[in-house]
Amino acid sequence: MPNNASPIFLNNTDQPCDQINQLIKTGSLLVSARVLNLDDTPCYLDYKLGALTLHVQTEAESFELSLNFVEGKSQHRRLYGGGKGQPLAKACGLSKHPEWTILDATAGLGKDAFVLASLGAKLTMCEQSPVLYALLCDALLRASEHEETDLIVKRMQLMHANAIDYLKTLNDTPSARPDVIYLDPMYPARRKSAKIKKEMQILQYLVGHSNDNAALLEMALHTAKHRVVVKRPKTATMLNEILPTFTVSSVNTRYDVYSR
Ligand SMILES: C[S@@+](CC[C@H](N)C(=O)[O-])C[C@H]1O[C@@H](n2cnc3c(N)ncnc32)[C@H](O)[C@@H]1O
Repeated sequence: MPNNASPIFLNNTDQPCDQINQLIKTGSLLVSARVLNLDDTPCYLDYKLGALTLHVQTEAESFELSLNFVEGKSQHRRLYGGGKGQPLAKACGLSKHPEWTILDATAGLGKDAFVLASLGAKLTMCEQSPVLYALLCDALLRASEHEETDLIVKRMQLMHANAIDYLKTLNDTPSARPDVIYLDPMYPARRKSAKIKKEMQILQYLVGHSNDNAALLEMALHTAKHRVVVKRPKTATMLNEILPTFTVSSVNTRYDVYSR
């Protein structure tokens, strides 16, 4: 996204349908002066059982992906996830600072963002992939139609942008800087490819491996008012090898917290 282009914000009360329908109908979408072209890949979007669904058909296998904040894992985590005592919430400081605003700069499938919002956090989600952005729009919209999730998704604002470009724009408006910036970047390609979950395979297929993690962390450290939280596999090295102020660990995951 060029620096002078503004990110597309979507408040979940708006109808994102124009953009999504354009993507479905034509297979391409003009996003901030870039054209996303689904024709380059063997994939398409359509509605299946009322949910926007990505279909990927490669020679080897086929995938389907739609997001759901109302039922399934998100519902389970909302009801039995451990409240503000769970590692993600602790790392973001939710108990002590419920008023803090959070920028989830790498929204992905929106799972972590939904957990934080269900614990009361007000957050903005930033996603660079137009396809994931479209799937998130649709999932937020559907969640806003359910009594149990409506108030939660009202606290979630979604934006299509590269987070590095977006963070640069915040330097001109200090009052808009978030208290916490949360990063869960894609990992660099592994030398040995261990078996990974289907959802992660789809993510890798859609967005590949990240090469801008170092720049993203640097911008986040420069912009967050209070802390930057980086999610890592438990045994991975620190991002950019920068020592965190403290870490919060769970079974397979480590949250590196950089206080400012
Ligand atoms: C591992 S996934 C995040 C998963 C997410 N935490 C969840 O709970 O579903 C990483 C996501 O970050 C996005 N991403 C990576 N770098 C980004 C950037 N600079 N700006 C915006 N999105 C980015 C990728 O497109 C991908 O969707």
